[in-house]
Amino acid sequence: MADKKRLTSSRKLDHLRICAEEPVESGDPGFGDVRFVHNALPECDMGRISLESRFLHHTFSSPLFISAMTGGHPGTKEVNARLARAAEMYGLGMGVGSQRAALEKPDLADTFSVVRDEAPHAFLVGNLGAVQLRDHGIEWAEKAVEMIEADALAIHLNFLQEAIQPEGDHNAKGCLEAIARLCADFRTPVIIKETGCGISAATARQLWSAGASAIDIGGWGGTSWAAVESVRAKETGREHDKGLQSLGQDFACWGIPTVVSLAEVLATGNPVIASGGIRSGMDMAKSLAFGADLCGMALPLLQPAMKSDEALAQKIEAIHRELTVTMFLTGSERVPDLRKASVQITGKTRQMIDKDNPARIKR
Ligand SMILES: Cc1cc2nc3c(=O)[nH]c(=O)nc-3n(C[C@H](O)[C@H](O)[C@H](O)COP(=O)(O)O)c2cc1C
Repeated sequence: MADKKRLTSSRKLDHLRICAEEPVESGDPGFGDVRFVHNALPECDMGRISLESRFLHHTFSSPLFISAMTGGHPGTKEVNARLARAAEMYGLGMGVGSQRAALEKPDLADTFSVVRDEAPHAFLVGNLGAVQLRDHGIEWAEKAVEMIEADALAIHLNFLQEAIQPEGDHNAKGCLEAIARLCADFRTPVIIKETGCGISAATARQLWSAGASAIDIGGWGGTSWAAVESVRAKETGREHDKGLQSLGQDFACWGIPTVVSLAEVLATGNPVIASGGIRSGMDMAKSLAFGADLCGMALPLLQPAMKSDEALAQKIEAIHRELTVTMFLTGSERVPDLRKASVQITGKTRQMIDKDNPARIKR
């Protein structure tokens, strides 16, 4: 058991290092197939554009959401502190990484609670895996929320990663029921999030019926956990892990592209966080035009957060500038106005979204 706890914690550091140093992105989220129709007469003042956004009864200064990444090893505390300072300064929402390590080993709790210390006013989202929720129930969910005084709790779905991780949990039975039980008994809003494979309309319907407060689609086309675990398997050098290394490479192509997942989930309900391969303010604007409430980014914020507060601030400001220019050129003074902007959808993304596509198998 002590070994297992140590493994959970050291894995967190491996993930940060691998994501910062190795090519871990895979696929195409589909934003290249979406184009705004340029508005040559936008009739709005770029200086007066507001990025203010609403989600779960909370007002944010911007729709940029810092997706769940880290905590759980002493070496991750400063990165979480930096992300939290940015969330506080720019009025952003922020998720922490899976709190499992600190629930197994409470002396790691400060690597998460530092986020509340640095961001006393920010909307913070706790994080727990669906498997841990099933196995430990509402007690761990309550502890995770308390640890960071969270405004919401994200339950992550990561079964591709579990399938490839040497120490992964391969039994997904009972997770939907555990989610439904949590949603029925919990006072804190529950967000269900994928981690890079996307959520289909059918899964979204199950989650809304289970009582989810929001869905974070975590679509394919950005950070690939198959790729990350493939690198980890290679690094162990163990003979047995060689098979996992190639399994990870083979499954880096697996998932629902972000734009397709976004269209599917939004057809079933809201609120929705778009995430997975969002790499610019323009990608954010496209997601908001589809109807997303917030837009999550993980990897693009990790590299600057590992450098300095200034590097992270520069990145966030560049993203905001691009979002603002896109809003200007579509005549959108406020974030909700983007939903009225005209977009053209082409290529594979259009084919996959098209409900009448004969290649689409309906369920
Ligand atoms: C270093 C790193 C660690 C992550 N850890 C978690 C985690 O613990 N829990 C979780 O729900 N998602 C985790 N994620 C997934 C992100 O929240 C996000 O869903 C995914 O990376 C897709 O976004 P991106 O393409 O912008 O990176 C992690 C991502 C990164 C890059």
